[in-house]
Amino acid sequence: MKAWLIVGAALAAIGTAGTAMAQDVISQRRDGLRGMGRHMEAIKAVTDARGDTRPLVARIDEMITFYNGLPALFPAGSGTGDTRALPTIWSDRAGFEQANANTVTQLTALRAAAASGDVAATTAAFGQTGASCGTCHRPYRGPAR
Ligand code: HEC
Repeated sequence: MKAWLIVGAALAAIGTAGTAMAQDVISQRRDGLRGMGRHMEAIKAVTDARGDTRPLVARIDEMITFYNGLPALFPAGSGTGDTRALPTIWSDRAGFEQANANTVTQLTALRAAAASGDVAATTAAFGQTGASCGTCHRPYRGPAR
């Protein structure tokens, strides 16, 4: 088969599957973000109890990995469906990616604080991390629809 025939068939398949693929990536990022919410709750439980913060490092590493991959979970075309993603994610992509980079920076500081075992420093870094989530949610996440 000529190469262009293969390419043509592949493009047709992508066209048909496009809507289904968008919904898959929406489910994937929403599941992942719910997991991030659970991580945040678990971290808060430890700082509230003034517990040992060092075991939190593995959790925070998972979060850093997730947020490093977050922009890829918002491909063009995934703004409609069962999602609260706002069109600003695609019209202001640089701002969206900057907001995400800020969260990664805060998580890196949170990781260092947790690894040191310093509860006060971990509590402060946790607060900054939570604030960075809001810095993305306000401009880029809409109400449930
Ligand atoms: C760069 C932007 C960005 C950052 C940073 C970000 N979020 Fe979100 N978050 C979103 C968007 C956009 C949605 C909506 C996703 C959708 O509905 O498709 C969302 C949705 C969520 C949801 C709801 C998932 C669901 O559908 O049930 C939770 C929970 C969540 N985020 C937690 C967090 C936490 C915790 C942080 C910080 C540690 C964070 N997010 C950081 C953009 C971000």
